[in-house]
Amino acid sequence: MSDWQKVCSVTDIQLGKWYQTDLDGTIVVIYNLDGQFFAIEDMCTHDGAILSGCPLEGDEVVCPRHGARFSVKTGEALSAPAWEATATFPIKIENDNILIRDGRWD
Ligand code: FES
Repeated sequence: MSDWQKVCSVTDIQLGKWYQTDLDGTIVVIYNLDGQFFAIEDMCTHDGAILSGCPLEGDEVVCPRHGARFSVKTGEALSAPAWEATATFPIKIENDNILIRDGRWD
């Protein structure tokens, strides 16, 4: 189990924006959707493209290379050519700071 890692303040990610961070070697992107924060691995599972900075449509991020869509909330792959979900990471807010951890190996 990995420890919680402080990433940034909640005020560092404006509504509809994102923040990229390194979590023990995994690049993670945190999104602010309507004041709720979600963290997914910053990688398209089709062919490894970076998702941060890609267009957001509602709660979906669209990979610019071949158009796969992922749920920012669940990491689920929503359209071809990606079939595998991108990883998600638990988030907690403490004293207006955003903390994440890697729960994949719990
Ligand atoms: S690399 Fe993202 S859809 Fe192909």
